[in-house]
Amino acid sequence: SLYSIIPAGGIGSRLWPLSRADAPKFLHDLTGSGQTLLRDTWERLAPLSGADRIMVVTGRAHRAAVEAQLPELEDRNVVLESEPKDSSAAIGLAAAILLRRDPDVVIGSFHADHVIRDTRGLRRAVQEAVAVAQAGFIATIGISPTEPAIGFGYIHCSEPLAIPGAPSALGVDSFVEKPDLATAKSYLEGGNHLWNAGMFISRADVLLAQMAESEPALVEGLTALAEAWDTPRRGAVVDKIWPTLTKIAIDYSVAEPAAAQGRLVVVPGHFDWDDVGDFASIAKLHTGGRKSDLAILGEGARVLADSSSGVVISQSGRLISLIGVTDIVVVDTPDALLVTTSANAQRVKSVVDALKLSG
Ligand code: GDD
Ligand code: MG
Repeated sequence: SLYSIIPAGGIGSRLWPLSRADAPKFLHDLTGSGQTLLRDTWERLAPLSGADRIMVVTGRAHRAAVEAQLPELEDRNVVLESEPKDSSAAIGLAAAILLRRDPDVVIGSFHADHVIRDTRGLRRAVQEAVAVAQAGFIATIGISPTEPAIGFGYIHCSEPLAIPGAPSALGVDSFVEKPDLATAKSYLEGGNHLWNAGMFISRADVLLAQMAESEPALVEGLTALAEAWDTPRRGAVVDKIWPTLTKIAIDYSVAEPAAAQGRLVVVPGHFDWDDVGDFASIAKLHTGGRKSDLAILGEGARVLADSSSGVVISQSGRLISLIGVTDIVVVDTPDALLVTTSANAQRVKSVVDALKLSG
């Protein structure tokens, strides 16, 4: 059966100033559910793999916040990073640790910060993906694209495969991580591509063998870390090896080469899926895409709005007044204020880059 891995490490820089290094996206309530995205993720996965079979990989700095969100999380299932080394290291280390504990383990990685409400639809897809994994392939879950988004991986689907327990599984011709806009448009028009939902399900040994083909040094490091993990040598080995790990996303180290070699299989997902990566998608989530609506988020938000639409997120308690502005994005936090429009939501990342440059 399945062991879930939640890599919880990205900052979500397109959601500044809501999302910060010390308050990353997964620690926010973006849906209005009253709980964080991380907690929502946990509650979706617990029925799939069992709450004692969910491993969380996060930065040392987030330990207290993560444990407060997930009181059921067992110590042996917490993996703390001394510094972020991207998703190959995060997921690969979890895989290597779990492989030492169980040589036949099937793992599934699930982002900490997505919005999925149809838990039953998710479960159906994951069950098929587990069957694909048991047949020795690396499974991914694909979502029908609705726009030429450039922030996703694209899966080029081929023929249906006859894998027992996975009637909807399709072969994959190629996987392209974050294509440029013209390419994304051509994929959308062609109709043969799905978005990568960011879920990889496979045997742990299969995933690591695939990663080792493109990143041998990284997997060597991860294996040494895993060998020391459940021993008193852990601290010393982490100090020595962690800084040397190659920073690369799993989409490049595993998905692209696995697809090229015919080892990637996609299960089309029939459930709602939103990576809520920017303020335009948050606005859409709350207004249902009605251009005339104004979504107001934040406990105790005080907003006076006249003929205005878009989204206001308030964490400051300050009175916010909008008059005659449409498709606006206002994010008010105690020490920083962002004002932009939905159409410019993708560009928020540049503020964070500029702040980094100016120290
Ligand atoms: N622990 C840890 N440490 N987690 C990390 C780190 C790290 O250094 N870096 C990234 N992650 C986690 C993020 O928290 C997230 O859960 C996942 O790995 C993916 O990282 P992102 O940085 O959010 O990737 P992305 O959104 O640009 O692209 C990925 O997701 C898309 C769907 O949302 C890719 O998999 C795309 O192909 C995919 O379409
Ligand atoms: Mg993401």
